[in-house]
Amino acid sequence: MTKSIVNAIRTVPDLREHLAARRADGSSVGFVPTMGALHAGHCALIEAAAASHGEVVVSIFVNPTQFEDAADLERYPRTEQADIEMAIAAGASVCFIPTVDEIYPRGAATTVSVSGGLSNRLEGAERGSSHFDGVATVVTVLLNICQPDAAYFGEKDAQQLLVVRRFVTDLQIPTKIVAVPTVRSADGLALSSRNQRLSDQETVQALAIARALAAAAEAISDGTAGSPEEAETTGRAILDDAGIACEYFEVTSPDTLARAERLDGELLISCAARVGDVRLIDNTTVVANPTREAATARS
Ligand code: PAJ
Repeated sequence: MTKSIVNAIRTVPDLREHLAARRADGSSVGFVPTMGALHAGHCALIEAAAASHGEVVVSIFVNPTQFEDAADLERYPRTEQADIEMAIAAGASVCFIPTVDEIYPRGAATTVSVSGGLSNRLEGAERGSSHFDGVATVVTVLLNICQPDAAYFGEKDAQQLLVVRRFVTDLQIPTKIVAVPTVRSADGLALSSRNQRLSDQETVQALAIARALAAAAEAISDGTAGSPEEAETTGRAILDDAGIACEYFEVTSPDTLARAERLDGELLISCAARVGDVRLIDNTTVVANPTREAATARS
């Protein structure tokens, strides 16, 4: 089936009309929500969606309600024309580029809020839990507008993915949520729209984040670390050496984000750090080997 090449749609009625026609043609719809400033990480999501759906919608919307800091919102890179070209090249059928008024109707008074640790820990603790209220609300609105068969999210934002899975389950939204692995530069830096704001020297410094996560994961998997705290200390030391200000470096449950009490089963290691004035996040998962842990504890 040939894909329709409509580059940009800006209103909800136009998108609904476009998608109704594509569904009538028999296409299933894949959806990739973004805030623009697209890079190869976003493209991996778009390519994954294009591999499974005849119609792929990429939304580009810098959502004001998830920014706790007005200056951060102001500074967020906006590169619309390049984004449209990159999205289409990666396999998008259409970019949905709404205004703030299009997404939030006049008098809007409804918030989707995921309570508890999924929203309050890690990013929620640093940025305020209203951050994930903003994410949950805008993603719900976008899913309602688009009504896709599947929506694609990056593991780079592991906590966001958990929050999305939670409210999609709780609100019985009939969209499959698909996770896509983190795309990194050749030397390991997780791609992010914010990387554009790093100087050359800061880019080198930022590589320590992935190194710190890998070292902590290795210390867990090879049994060098006897406890979650020891693994965290290993990672933090690498950030310190690189002169990076660590906001959090934590070993948690990958399902609840509760702090890991023991090195057992699958674990998520998450990090947020500031390089200059750029805030970066990254994470990795690791499976602890309890036999080794026990062996280490005994020796
Ligand atoms: P944004 O930061 O633009 O990210 C859009 C999607 O791309 C998210 O699912 C994110 O996890 C994914 N992504 C970003 N960098 C990636 C990388 N290096 N590898 C793989 N995937 C990556 O996340 C948001 O926008 C917003 O919060 C949004 C969900 C659009 C709601 O406003």
